[in-house]
Amino acid sequence: MRSVAEQSTDELGGRMSVLARQKSDHVVLNGLLEELQGSSGSAQQHALLRIYRLVFPHAFAEESVLWPVIRRALPEGDELTLEVEREHQEVNELVTTLETLPVGDARRVPVLDRLVEVLREDVRDEEDELFPRLQTRVGRRQLQLLGVAWEVVRRIAPTRAHPVVARRPPGNVVAALPLTAVDRLRDAVDARRLRGGAAPRPALDWVSRGLTRTAHAIEHLPLLGRGEDPSTRRGDRAAGFPWGTAAGAAALVLAVVALLRRRR
Ligand SMILES: [Fe+2]
Ligand SMILES: [Fe+2]
Repeated sequence: MRSVAEQSTDELGGRMSVLARQKSDHVVLNGLLEELQGSSGSAQQHALLRIYRLVFPHAFAEESVLWPVIRRALPEGDELTLEVEREHQEVNELVTTLETLPVGDARRVPVLDRLVEVLREDVRDEEDELFPRLQTRVGRRQLQLLGVAWEVVRRIAPTRAHPVVARRPPGNVVAALPLTAVDRLRDAVDARRLRGGAAPRPALDWVSRGLTRTAHAIEHLPLLGRGEDPSTRRGDRAAGFPWGTAAGAAALVLAVVALLRRRR
């Protein structure tokens, strides 16, 4: 079996194929990881936001569209996809830790190093193990159809870390709608925060933190954990749904949407 990294676009099933699309995202990710490693301060935050916007929808579409197909197509599919789901879970947990550490805090360094390492391991597992095996079971036409399905889901998927939701359907699919809406609002607010460079933006910081709490509160909705393998389940999942936080968070989202509308 040859790694996807060594194959031409035609060998991968053409431009539409899910394997060609995966490879091209992985190349972009590699460039962003190099940028992240050489940056600090607001440049590092910029690089991280671009990595989140690439990585989380990419992984969400893998977990909801691709891995179920691989589990059906390959006898060893369950074991292989579980390994990758564990890597995705670790990425979600590392990014959630970063959210709690201010920029410039020395405790971010080992977390960022590990984040880069796990993301690279994830790419290697997919390109060298998972996808070459999928190629032995699935034809060109099917790879192209999977490519279209993966692309559609990727475009409407959450863009931030959500360690509490299931890494498998049906939980992650149910989670997509509310979390995508909150995440994209966070993206807009954070982009505006960073546009001001190092200048303090207390109001936007407050809104961004509120939206982060909202997203993490939504993750505790009971249905969103359905389908999870016990090895990727977060310990605090059973803590119950934080209704107080959710009510405050819902009020915050409505206030932000109203504010954005008034500004237009
Ligand atoms: Fe991937
Ligand atoms: Fe992945």
